[in-house]
Amino acid sequence: MYPLLASGTDTGYIVGQRADDYGLSAESAALQVKELQPNIVFLCSPNNPTGTGLGLDVVEAVYEAGEASQTIVIVDEAYHEFAHDGTPSALTLLPGRERLIVSRTMSKAFALAGARLGYMAAAPEVTDALRLVRLPYHLSAITQATALAALQHRTALMADVEDIKEQRDRIVSELTRMGLKPAASDSNYVFFGGLDNPHDVWLRLLDDGVLIRDVGIPATCVSRRELRRRPQRSWRRWNASWPARPGCPPKLEVSAPPRAGTSPSLSHY
Ligand SMILES: Cc1ncc(COP(=O)(O)O)c(C=O)c1O
Repeated sequence: MYPLLASGTDTGYIVGQRADDYGLSAESAALQVKELQPNIVFLCSPNNPTGTGLGLDVVEAVYEAGEASQTIVIVDEAYHEFAHDGTPSALTLLPGRERLIVSRTMSKAFALAGARLGYMAAAPEVTDALRLVRLPYHLSAITQATALAALQHRTALMADVEDIKEQRDRIVSELTRMGLKPAASDSNYVFFGGLDNPHDVWLRLLDDGVLIRDVGIPATCVSRRELRRRPQRSWRRWNASWPARPGCPPKLEVSAPPRAGTSPSLSHY
């Protein structure tokens, strides 16, 4: 999404480099910022699609590396509510860092993607400046009322977060037990490798009503047309229709059925 938004505003966009294991160290991130001197840096924590969170040392190092170029550092914490307990938020770094912005969304933990509502925390100078450049009427009265109601009822809306975290951790350990290679996830999805034929596994799981996302390299994803063509089958039927056919991974042991109308998600779509 960020490259798309950048292209729509005629803004240059450079993809930062991660290590082979998709990790990002403070040293590497700071070096890239020093070399490139961008106006804005986005750090996704937890990251999509790897699901891995960044240490606050990375955010601090990037912020300091952007001192000379006065780089604005945006930490995208769209999935922070799913992080393991005790994971610190970049919100704790805001005092004294006027170039730092932390963004969140109600799409994930609040399960309110349809509301199209995001929010951010930053120094007053930054939020005032954004008020000048934002589109007029960018947030309808209905959306604002929905957000206030969502905050009032956050306990109910976020009731599933702990269950999702539990199942996420279970999926990580089950995939590891199968000999696959899941990345440590602080999100509501799990990124994993080690499959001989990811596309085939994706297709076979889809046949059984389980949607995962084949992020292959170069990235590919599920088209909506394909999804509509294939009727969703229930979780119970999927479980019953195992055991494995050639090329399929062994059955996943997930204790609780997913919420009505959804499939257990191994990977974010
Ligand atoms: C890392 C990250 N940030 C932000 C978003 C934006 O979410 P939304 O536009 O629904 O608020 C997403 C959505 O998938 C995401 O993966």
